[in-house]
Amino acid sequence: MATHVIPVDPFDLVIFGGTGDLAKRKILPGLFRRFVAGQMPEGARVIGAARGEFDDAGYRDFARDAIEKYAHGKIHDKGKINDFLNCLSYFRIDALGDGGWKDLAKIMRKDVVQAFYFSVGPRLFAPLAERLHKYKIAGPDARIVVEKPFGHDLESARALNAELAAYFKETQIYRIDHYLGKETVQNLMVVRFANILFEPLWNAQYVDHIQITVAETVGVGGRGAYYDKSGAMRDMVQNHLMQLLCLIAMEPPAHFDPDSVRDEKLKVIRALDPVEVEDIVRGQYRAGPDGPSYIEDAENPDSTTESYLAMKLHVSNWRWSGTPFYLRTGKRLRARKSEIAVVFKDPPHFIFGDQQEQRCNELIIHLQPNEGMDLRVTIKEPGPGGMRLMDVPLDMSFAETLGDEVDDIPDAYERLVMDVIRGDQTLFMRGDEVEAAWAWVDPIIKGWQDRGDQPKLYDAGSSGPEDALMLMHREGRRWREISE
Ligand code: BG6
Repeated sequence: MATHVIPVDPFDLVIFGGTGDLAKRKILPGLFRRFVAGQMPEGARVIGAARGEFDDAGYRDFARDAIEKYAHGKIHDKGKINDFLNCLSYFRIDALGDGGWKDLAKIMRKDVVQAFYFSVGPRLFAPLAERLHKYKIAGPDARIVVEKPFGHDLESARALNAELAAYFKETQIYRIDHYLGKETVQNLMVVRFANILFEPLWNAQYVDHIQITVAETVGVGGRGAYYDKSGAMRDMVQNHLMQLLCLIAMEPPAHFDPDSVRDEKLKVIRALDPVEVEDIVRGQYRAGPDGPSYIEDAENPDSTTESYLAMKLHVSNWRWSGTPFYLRTGKRLRARKSEIAVVFKDPPHFIFGDQQEQRCNELIIHLQPNEGMDLRVTIKEPGPGGMRLMDVPLDMSFAETLGDEVDDIPDAYERLVMDVIRGDQTLFMRGDEVEAAWAWVDPIIKGWQDRGDQPKLYDAGSSGPEDALMLMHREGRRWREISE
């Protein structure tokens, strides 16, 4: 299968926070992979900008290390790395002061795509936007890319939107949710909207329930200070899980363009019912044989922050009324596994005796690891001995279908950065979407605070708190296993 790569237009990409963790782990290695794939045009420039005392050579060394360590796939060709490094330069800049800005203005080209990646904490978003404007660095079509967390609640997200809107139009603002850049997440839209097969069944009449799981094995050690103020709700649910829910639940957009897609996603968020207290389980991990407790990781002995959340939601609209959506996410769980399972209802009339237990139609979308999909159907167990039923997967693993080319699947960040350069906002969150998500999340968090809610403790390496199992069991349903 050939991989199609369409080069983008020449660009100047400035990475504020160019020596930070995200630049090192994701942005620079991602750009390098796009360079190797032939997508970066002649004359593309990547400018790292930060406070540190680097020169161009020092920054190139930094980028070389980052690529050697973090660029995945079989592409560590020294010659290619050197060619890529030639596109890189470094600029010393003071985000809160005036140092460096006039010089940056001088080197930016006006006749190429301009993109400014704010790979910095949110408190610097507004000062950066203001300076890009004040020093006339950003042209009318320049793009800015902002990372999560986009606000801490509705009020702060609104304030941030307003601050950015003072200098940039909405069409220039790219709010990243890297889950939208994942291969299978995009495939979700293709599976739904390029096939006739699923759409007639994609509703409350045929879907019993939907499960969305994002399970991680890592704890919060190393970033406890940030995480302890966020918890799973702000860190994962308000953005990543909510986006997955939107893509699964949304109506088919009339066009595949940024606003048509985002309009439909927004309608899903606005159709979410408030969550009942008994439909939510918060958890926090205990110490286990191979790691400390959350409390130790967060360095806060009194912390009541959740490292795990499971909840049952209702999307109150014509399509989904009566079909629950179960979401769960957590740290230090048994396995790293993200998937969406669409569990269909039983046939209305069953003619194969007492083997009802056997039938099972599920569409599982595996986001990571081992991207792919499988559709479970019931068949006759081969051989004599009557009509015995079994359920089997119709399996589509990307690794098997694409073979070695699975290495060429762009990582979420590489794809998203190229979308910025192309000017395609489809996979980025619009300001109103982010605000709607906070508007739904805020009362839930406030409820916990008002009630002094204590998270349930769970063992590190388990599937989460017992109560989360009950969320499903009490309704005769069960979560899929969290296992490799
Ligand atoms: C980030 C969260 O947005 O996503 C992290 O802040 C989380 O807490 C990470 O670990 C998960 O991303 P991925 O791509 O590894 O599933």
